[in-house]
Amino acid sequence: MTNHANMRWGENDKLGKSWDNCNVSGKIKTEFVTQLIAEDRPITFSPNLPNVHSPAEENVSILEIWGGQPLSGQVNVSGAKNSALVLMAGAVLCPEECSLRNVPSLVDVSCMSEILAALGVKVKREGDRLVINASTIGQSKAPYELVSQLRASFFVIGPLLARLGVARIPLPGGCAIGARPVDLHVRGLQALGAEVQIDHGIVYAYVTGVNKRLKGAKIYLDYPSVGATETLMMAATLADGETTIENAAQEPEVIDLANFCRAMGAKIRGAGTNTITISGVSRLHTADYSIIPDRVEAGTFLVAGAITRSEILVSPVIPDHLTAVIAKLQAMGVQVVKEGSHGVRVIPSQNILATDIETLPYPGFPTDMQAQFMALLTLSEGDSIISETVFENRLGHVPELSRMGADIRIKGNHAIIRGVPMLSGAPVVATDLRASAALVLAGLAANGKTTIQGLHHMDRGYEQIESKLQKLGARMHRIKSDAKLDDRSNDAVVLPSKPPMLNQHS
Ligand code: EPU
Repeated sequence: MTNHANMRWGENDKLGKSWDNCNVSGKIKTEFVTQLIAEDRPITFSPNLPNVHSPAEENVSILEIWGGQPLSGQVNVSGAKNSALVLMAGAVLCPEECSLRNVPSLVDVSCMSEILAALGVKVKREGDRLVINASTIGQSKAPYELVSQLRASFFVIGPLLARLGVARIPLPGGCAIGARPVDLHVRGLQALGAEVQIDHGIVYAYVTGVNKRLKGAKIYLDYPSVGATETLMMAATLADGETTIENAAQEPEVIDLANFCRAMGAKIRGAGTNTITISGVSRLHTADYSIIPDRVEAGTFLVAGAITRSEILVSPVIPDHLTAVIAKLQAMGVQVVKEGSHGVRVIPSQNILATDIETLPYPGFPTDMQAQFMALLTLSEGDSIISETVFENRLGHVPELSRMGADIRIKGNHAIIRGVPMLSGAPVVATDLRASAALVLAGLAANGKTTIQGLHHMDRGYEQIESKLQKLGARMHRIKSDAKLDDRSNDAVVLPSKPPMLNQHS
């Protein structure tokens, strides 16, 4: 039997694919490719893979996917996780009850609810609606056990400081995708007049003076950090005077937060541009607000269509939020057409063209879609370079995709992907949220069965992904397993006769 997974384009004349047809362009790419072709030698497979076993997961869930099924139909996009989390923190600014609608049911949202509850905030879920009442806020100290689980929970520092004049939040620490410091948040709060001390891993911020009110200031961010922009925007809503945030993040979630704060009576201009101006008010009031659709979930489904060569309607979306993602799909030969005001339809092409991608702050290509596009590019005709510039450690999916027969090498923050004709199902482990999505996508396209462990990552950010994909025709289900995480033995897996080559030069 031909082992397609170990084959390069050009090796199989019957497929009519050749390197000569590849879409190779650009100086850096040429240098990389030349260098890498010179180094081209198979490396004996050695599963030197990250151990992400957590003791809490002795009884792990595994997702089994039988690849190669065409998908069809329409898929519903949930509310945006990263909006929901920060808007929940934003509700702490308000001394009255607020309602957030279109809130996805996710582990991260539950964790944020627990953090708010620990601060004395009442949080109640009614369907996709969260009713948050921070009139009863009684604590300025967030518990470490919860903050360490969810980086976004650090963002409550801004609202707490604005409301109470004091906040004690543990440093969130690094995570699987990078160190993720909070220096920009802290320096911005200091510019707003807060005293900040960091002791024993706790950030203790307070405002001096009689009314304990932050003071408006002009803040320049060294980097357009999403979280820092959000923290400072929230803190400034109740500050005395005007605040300007220069080099602010322009992500749609920042605009969503600004709109929610405005619905509560905040005075914010310029959200969505690189300069945001906030005129402080003394008090916010109740609001009922609906969260935007999740652009990363939508993008993931567009890639699902492209990778399985299936036509799928994805809605609701705000098409403008997907500009970079759609442009890259089009560069790969995949058509994406708008349908109505809130839908996009992916119309696949049989051949995926290679393309280069660099992750950037919005409106650049989102880092949260990098792993999913890498899965798609593993099956492209030619070689591509993905450069991850936002997080320093967001290529954990590379060894896992390689297990499935992908040909990817890492050079610093660049991944060089040579398209292969086919992936083969294999046991793999998700190392972070978006890596989990990439593995699901690869599994949908692969030959045979893929089993994915590390599903706790996926459950943080994708609402009902299995049932949504099943409805489209995917063959997948989740099983409980007593197997230890990272135990790759899987008799039922259709593996190639030789282990796949792992061409990873790190
Ligand atoms: N950074 C600093 N100092 C800071 C803040 C950030 O050096 O004080 C660095 C980070 O270490 C990183 C870069 O700036 O290298 C970008 O970080 P940013 O602050 O923009 O990201 P974030 O607010 O921590 C949010 C999303 C991420 C998404 C990024 C970038 C939430 C809860 N998280 O993180 O979402 O990747 O923006 O768009 O909003 C995900 O959903 O999978 C995810 C990781």
